[in-house]
Amino acid sequence: MSPSIDSQQFREVLGQYPTGVCVVTAAPEEGPAAGFVVGSFTSVSLDPPLVAFFPDKKSTSWPRIAAAGHFCVNILSADQEHLCRQFASRAGDKFAGVETRAASTGAPIVGGAVAWIDCELDSVTEAGDHYIVLGRVRELQVETGALPLLFFQGGYGRFAPLSLAATGARGTLTDELRELDLIRGEMEALAGDLSSRCVATVVDDEDLIVLANAGSPDASARATLVGVHLPFAPSYGSAFAAWFDDERLDAFIRQVPALDREEERLRIARVRERGYSVGLINGAQREFASALSQLEQDPHARAQGTLKPLVEQLHYDPADLTTKTKTDIRVIAAPVFRKGGEVALVLTVYGFPKPNGVVDDYVARLLEATGRASRLLGF
Ligand SMILES: Cc1cc2nc3c(=O)[nH]c(=O)nc-3n(C[C@H](O)[C@H](O)[C@H](O)COP(=O)(O)O)c2cc1C
Repeated sequence: MSPSIDSQQFREVLGQYPTGVCVVTAAPEEGPAAGFVVGSFTSVSLDPPLVAFFPDKKSTSWPRIAAAGHFCVNILSADQEHLCRQFASRAGDKFAGVETRAASTGAPIVGGAVAWIDCELDSVTEAGDHYIVLGRVRELQVETGALPLLFFQGGYGRFAPLSLAATGARGTLTDELRELDLIRGEMEALAGDLSSRCVATVVDDEDLIVLANAGSPDASARATLVGVHLPFAPSYGSAFAAWFDDERLDAFIRQVPALDREEERLRIARVRERGYSVGLINGAQREFASALSQLEQDPHARAQGTLKPLVEQLHYDPADLTTKTKTDIRVIAAPVFRKGGEVALVLTVYGFPKPNGVVDDYVARLLEATGRASRLLGF
């Protein structure tokens, strides 16, 4: 290395560039299978089909792969970090517990890999303390097509396929984000027309997760509620619960033992009948709104504990929607259905101008948006 470049700075700066993670394997004639981790894999040429990686001259696996004259590049998936550690270590049998089968060159294909590229060794060029190895592709296949493992700034991570990355108990909400991308235009138009905020939420186990936000009346607001987990319990969440089966609805209602269950069932039945849910102003609603705006400033704050008691006291979906009651409406929520009639997500509007006399128009505009959004999702 040139004396003017500090090695620590070199690593730090180059560590800003993310890479995928692969296990390069081979089956040499002598001895057991060889395999080691590379982050330096890249495609080179389509005609002829060439790929490359850069082994360290100090690698003990590389000379055995070179002797084999072939190699298979296995792209690791986000849940194969343990395999990455196993194949990057010299201690122990790298293939212990790993399911493999032979590619046509004989090199092991690692089970559960995202994809593999089986190659014959084409050329090896010296490059400082590494080699540049070119492989001529013989066969290649997408295996699971799962999300890949990534390496960035010295740590592992995963790829969030869309611009948003709210996560739930199952990991990144990939399917929901894809659906959301289809209806984003509807959300933006709705928020614009009502001069309000519009959030899309999904239910994941016991949480209500904010997946997206549109419309921000306060231009200086820098953060949104995207990614925030809220308690999913009565007295809100009925735009989801109204379409639950009996068993799930029962479990939802039982979360708040103090509730009159029959009353709560009636309230939720009203939501299904109306096709939307409304939240009215009260003390709890004011506190809840202010807690949410604090959460916007610090999205990492754990909200569940403080918000749950407030949620129980929110005033949603009264039996009579009189002209007087309607002026108290501060939140309107309606479901978006996917093919098959399942609730995919809920669009909630709030922060609209005082609804004196025009709340019916707001409701109609929301239902127009959720109707179109449902059709976009194949309903
Ligand atoms: C994320 C990651 C990327 C790596 N990339 C490379 C690489 O491109 N080239 C390389 O020679 N070693 C790379 N290594 C290190 C080798 O995997 C490791 O030094 C090697 O497996 C040591 O065992 P060996 O002596 O069997 O080769 C990487 C390790 C990790 C964790």
